[in-house]
Amino acid sequence: MEQLPAEPERLREAYAYPDDRVWVRANMVASVDGAATRDERSGGLGNANDRRLFATLRGLADVVVVGAGTARAEGYGPAQPGPSGRAPRLAIVSRRLDLDFETPLFTDARQRTILLAPENAPANRLWRARENADVILAGEDRLDLAVAIQELASHGFSRILCEGGPRILAQLVTAGVLDELCLTVSPVLLAGDGPRIVNGPPALKPAELRLTHAFRDDEDFLFLRYSRR
Ligand SMILES: NC(=O)c1ccc[n+]([C@@H]2O[C@H](COP(=O)([O-])OP(=O)(O)OC[C@H]3O[C@@H](n4cnc5c(N)ncnc54)[C@H](OP(=O)(O)O)[C@@H]3O)[C@@H](O)[C@H]2O)c1
Repeated sequence: MEQLPAEPERLREAYAYPDDRVWVRANMVASVDGAATRDERSGGLGNANDRRLFATLRGLADVVVVGAGTARAEGYGPAQPGPSGRAPRLAIVSRRLDLDFETPLFTDARQRTILLAPENAPANRLWRARENADVILAGEDRLDLAVAIQELASHGFSRILCEGGPRILAQLVTAGVLDELCLTVSPVLLAGDGPRIVNGPPALKPAELRLTHAFRDDEDFLFLRYSRR
């Protein structure tokens, strides 16, 4: 099996987005036994190559969609520009909009963070959110992920990267809008009851995948890229 390319340019080529359509990619890491978290975070599962790939995928994206649960658990800040000098916009999915607008995620972002929220989000928080971020509304009581993706596309974001968490990924899968999954398999067995990378009600129509490529590294991590059939 091929090694994960060490050359930044080769790595970018291996993960290039199609340039003729809107494309929704997710990037996740899991243990061999399927756990998406270790000590309630994903960071403990990755290694330096996983972080390198994470940064590369960000550099290729126009927008990074992430659930508020992950943004809170992982202490998200503004996306840093990659070697191209370009940073993706961050789009956070939240219904409650219970976010700290004094953190760098909002105060230091080069371009305003985007909030993806349903129309019935609490009015007072929506008001504060609009002062501190660009707000896109889709769906009534819950964000409709399929509509939110269409909205992002209509704002010119065609290379979409979802960094989870598992509850957001589940909704992309059940809405049938996930085109690709980049999965890092971490060589560890954790047992326990941590969530899988997709955490939600069963999909009525399972997303059938095809393996686009598989790389490994010297630490026995696998880097799998699957596309929707
Ligand atoms: N293994 C991996 O690759 C990976 C990747 C990412 C995260 N993680 C881990 O996964 C955990 C967090 O994942 P999670 O699944 O609990 O949370 P999540 O998917 O990141 O976020 C869930 C939150 O998103 C908002 N949300 C979800 N669906 C919504 C909808 N339809 N409409 C409006 N808001 C919606 C809600 O935010 P509000 O509460 O603000 O309304 C909800 O609490 C963390 O431990 C993180 O470290 C692992």
